Amino acid sequence: MRAIDILKSPIWAAELATGAKSFIDNPIIGSRRLNERGLHVARMRLAERMSDWRRRRLADLVDDDDRAQYEQKGFIQRSNVLSPEQLAGLRREVEENTFHSYDMRQGNAVTRFVPLPPQELKDKPHLAAFVNGRLFQNSLRYVASSNADPIVYLHVVLTQPNKGRVDPQTSFHSDTFQPTAKAWFFLYDVAMEDGPFTYVPGSHRLTPGRAAWEQKQSVDAADTKNRLHGRGSFRLTADEAKAMGFADTVAFNVPGNSLVVADTHGFHARGKSERPSVRVGIYGSLRRNPFLPFTGLDPFDFPGLKGRQAYLHMKQLEFFARRKGKNSSHRYAGKISITQPSEF
Ligand SMILES: [Fe+2]
Repeated sequence: MRAIDILKSPIWAAELATGAKSFIDNPIIGSRRLNERGLHVARMRLAERMSDWRRRRLADLVDDDDRAQYEQKGFIQRSNVLSPEQLAGLRREVEENTFHSYDMRQGNAVTRFVPLPPQELKDKPHLAAFVNGRLFQNSLRYVASSNADPIVYLHVVLTQPNKGRVDPQTSFHSDTFQPTAKAWFFLYDVAMEDGPFTYVPGSHRLTPGRAAWEQKQSVDAADTKNRLHGRGSFRLTADEAKAMGFADTVAFNVPGNSLVVADTHGFHARGKSERPSVRVGIYGSLRRNPFLPFTGLDPFDFPGLKGRQAYLHMKQLEFFARRKGKNSSHRYAGKISITQPSEF
């Protein structure tokens, strides 16, 4: 052990009580010996229990049908969310404005992130009403088991199937060891050919089948060649999920005006796009320390910070990239129409 490792050991140990998930970057989380004794699965089990306990306290945020959908499948799906007038107004605000946009390329797909801080929403009443509305906010908070401010973007996926490497998001994976929520409100129809979001129903639960698979993965995850797997977003095939006893995958090739809120601790993937496509949505994500014994007390609820997480996150990525003399993973694309082709 190097001297620096001895100094870092208390930090690595303290991270066990947080959402830290990387088997590569934390030698305790990645320890073969400790994982053979069940460390990873024990963290998963405790995270699930604590999340269930908090989620029960947030039951009033959603209705009976939403609770039943989450419990059985790991996601909440709603169609015809807005009235025709509201939807038309929202589409108009998105189509007729330009936005400060950040592009992230992963293989043959570019994901465009548009932060929506209060100053961006102040002249867009439909967008503001949706982003701050009960349905979007409450279903994210319920699934995440956390009454906190989610990170929200206008979100565009631009795919060019014949250009570049395979998009790593098209492999089935779990985002992390703990329950966590992501939401997409689709403004327009999503066709099967456009590579819709797909999910393995029920895989948000630590069933005996999943626990055995996780135990096996955890032992040598620190030595794996796949960096994303080694950092705690375990990759798998649909057949492996089936072998754990889960149902067939579902694809969300949904009509426009649909909302999907999924626990992306469950197994999911972006479908493979068979043609160039542009998918426009409003995206939210919420994940906090899974072991918190309370649902609220969120620093982002303070005035001045509320609604600004996405903007601050982009600035933070730019700052760290500049310090390393590199380009940020999310490159500023200018104030553009959100469906404009990416230059990166
Ligand atoms: Fe994911």
